[in-house]
This record gives sequence, structure tokens and C-alpha cells, in this order.
Amino acid sequence: MQVFAHRGASGYAPENTLAAIKKAVQLGSTAIEIDVHNVEGQLYVFHDRRLDGKSTGTGLIEEVSQAYLATVRVGAEPIPTLWELLAYLQHFDCIVNIELKGMNSLTPFLSLYPNILSKLNFSADKLLISSFNHHFVASVKQQFPQALVAPLIEGIPVDNAALVSQLQAYSLHLSLSFITSDIVIDAHQRGAKVYVYTVDDAADIAYLAKLGVDGIFSNYPDISQQVIEQLSR
Ligand code: G3P
Ligand code: MG
Repeated sequence: MQVFAHRGASGYAPENTLAAIKKAVQLGSTAIEIDVHNVEGQLYVFHDRRLDGKSTGTGLIEEVSQAYLATVRVGAEPIPTLWELLAYLQHFDCIVNIELKGMNSLTPFLSLYPNILSKLNFSADKLLISSFNHHFVASVKQQFPQALVAPLIEGIPVDNAALVSQLQAYSLHLSLSFITSDIVIDAHQRGAKVYVYTVDDAADIAYLAKLGVDGIFSNYPDISQQVIEQLSR
């Protein structure tokens, strides 16, 4: 089972910051998930749509300026750009799952993606592009057929995993709260992997292993990895 460090190793360092990414690498993570927003044409790594609460800033992240964002801190950490994190991660053998959040425009990502492949040490099979916005998933796949894409869902569609065929998705990203055996089987029959968010509990990991899921998103990737290794003994 693949373990994605969720928002970096967010159980140990401020989520979606370079510190959380470095911690994940230090813990031996081979897959990392991060969330991105568009701010004045530049992609920034942050989870919430509002800066309030998790940072020193205030307001909708996609409506502030880059100059303002540079003054904002998450814990003691700055909000990194996607490019900064990828420039760091290119030196490690790591899959990066870029989750496209409620972006006001997909254009900055569509412009950046080919640059990531040509200017950084990433091949298309090391980048997994996901979103709850399935229009974004479809657009990325349409523009870049080699891209690995994944729809995120919170719930179970009436036609189970049919959307992975429609979107030519590499994987289906499911909520732990709604997962069923039927959708896992259907996704696998359609050739897609199943990754489940957000999973930190040993009993949940054991349950998901029985369902045959391919991976999880965990805030404590090292502990979850240990649980998985114990299950396979
Ligand atoms: O990508 C998996 C998971 O991160 C989706 O939910 O809200 O944590 O971004 P959220
Ligand atoms: Mg996410």
C-alpha cells in the first residue's frame, strides 16, 4: 500500500510548507500530497480557501496579492509556491500528488505543467494531478494526455467508479467516510488505483487493506507505513 504524506508530513510540521515536505522526505516518504491555489497567476501551496485560522493572514487566498502572501506565515513558515516545493522534491525519488483546489483559473497550472516536465527533474509518471473539480481533471487530461489524473470524491456516485473511465483517470481518490467494497472493485476492474483520505488510525488501515485499496493519505506517514508493514507480516 502506497502512503502519501498528506499536506507533507503535516502531523509533524505546519501543513503544506517546505518544512512539512522536508520532514516527509526525512521520514522516507515516497509519495507526497499538496494542495494548490492560484494567486495572481502563480500557484501557491495551501489547503483552505481562506487564510484565516491556519495562517497569520486574512481573506480569501485567491483574492489577495502575491506581495501580501509573502508576509503571511503558517506557524513560522512562509506559504511556498508549487514551483519552490517541486524544485526541492525533484532531487528525491518521490511521487507528487498536486491537488488543484477551487482555483479561479486553471490557466496558470496548464502553463506550468509542461515547464515542470522540461525544466525540473520530473517525468509525467511522477506527478499525479487530482481535484474535486472534475472539469479541471478532464481539462488537464485533454491538454496533456500523458498526465496522470485523478478525481477526488466525497461520497459514492450511483454508477460507482464510472467516472475513472470517463476521465481516463490513473486513480480514484475516495474519502474514508464513504468507501465501499463495490466502488473499490469497480475502480480496479476499470484499471484505476484507489487511494483513500485521510487515514491515520491503525484499525482503519487494517480495514482498508482488507478492501484491497492501493494507498492512503496520512498525516503521520511513518507510523502508517509501520502499521502497513506489520499487517503484511
Ligand atoms: O487529496 C486527498 C485529500 O487531501 C483531499 O481532501 O481536504 O485534505 O484536501 P483535503
Ligand atoms: Mg488535499
